[in-house]
Amino acid sequence: MKTNDLSPDTLLAQGGHFVDRETGAVVPPIHSATTYARNSRYEVADYIYSRNANPTGAHVEHVLAKLEGAEEALAFSSGMAAVATFFDTVGTGEHVVAPRVMYHGAADLLRRLADRRGVEVSFFDASEPGALEAAVRPGRTSVVWIETCVNPTWDVIDVRAAAETARNAGAVLAVDATATPPVTLRALELGADVVFHSATKYLAGHSDLLAGVLATRSADERWHEVKAARTRMGGMLGAFEAWLLLRGMRTLHLRYERQAANALAIARHFEGRAGIEAVLYPGLESHAGHEIAKRQTAGSFGAMLSLLVEGGAEAAKRVATRTRLFVPATSLGGVESLIEHRASVEGPLSTVPANLLRLSVGIERADELIADLEQALA
Ligand SMILES: Cc1ncc(COP(=O)(O)O)c(C=O)c1O
Repeated sequence: MKTNDLSPDTLLAQGGHFVDRETGAVVPPIHSATTYARNSRYEVADYIYSRNANPTGAHVEHVLAKLEGAEEALAFSSGMAAVATFFDTVGTGEHVVAPRVMYHGAADLLRRLADRRGVEVSFFDASEPGALEAAVRPGRTSVVWIETCVNPTWDVIDVRAAAETARNAGAVLAVDATATPPVTLRALELGADVVFHSATKYLAGHSDLLAGVLATRSADERWHEVKAARTRMGGMLGAFEAWLLLRGMRTLHLRYERQAANALAIARHFEGRAGIEAVLYPGLESHAGHEIAKRQTAGSFGAMLSLLVEGGAEAAKRVATRTRLFVPATSLGGVESLIEHRASVEGPLSTVPANLLRLSVGIERADELIADLEQALA
């Protein structure tokens, strides 16, 4: 069986079907070298300098490309290094469209591109039907950047429809799929041109490394520019982190399944509970994006949800300080459950409701997580 035919689960479990030819090792080595010797004719072999590429990074990129059904993938030293490198290829006068509610660090980067580099940026309301179509300018928009689910309201953007809108406008569709990794969302198959992950989150899965990933449907001109920009700007993932990322990814499918099941149990338990104004989770039938999520993420609704707590910001913060299992910390996607008052983290430009608590659900037992939230709310 060729690795092309393997399911994501098997590909992940086997770490890319790796067996070292020389030693029989079933885990790839960490190539820590920064520089590589030329041959006797003074020619460069596969590698020259590890800021350009290195064998450990190349292995994880190979697995990521297979996982996404991509022609190529690139690993970066953080999610934001990947986002910044991607947008380095967007020049003055180009028009970019992005959701109004999205990861605040990427939104901040887009606002700086608009202020400092003369890139035109339009933000659209992802919860409003037709807003993306209205925001693109056919023949003028070069990049449509979307995020699904949208952090931290978990609105669901229809990737197939967004891809068609982008294509009709002559733009590239890039999807931040951090919250919906490739075991659930097949962004490139749905028509996206580029998919991005903060691999710090579900792909790595243990809250112990920073990494970012871009994968492309076709290694076109913009992709080659992204590659050159990674070398120029120095955003390459280090060899040890690449190795750790691969190790984390080997259990992605199992972790994500358990995390999503836990999140669904929590969402169902707290929907309609006294003291909770709303539960934002695409797995609930009451959620506006439920039908799209069902179609687009193969029946999995993810492991991120938000609670709107009655009593405003102070009441929400009080809950976040009273949990005993949910750790009051930012970030997401690790095996341990986290809780955060999102508006405090995003700062003054935040558009997030003041009473929103974001939960990143881990792999603990659902009944114990529910009991923890119950005692914090009591
Ligand atoms: C949706 C999303 N995109 C991008 C990023 C940035 O990734 P990193 O923190 O790995 O730089 C994050 C980080 O929280 C995120 O949640």
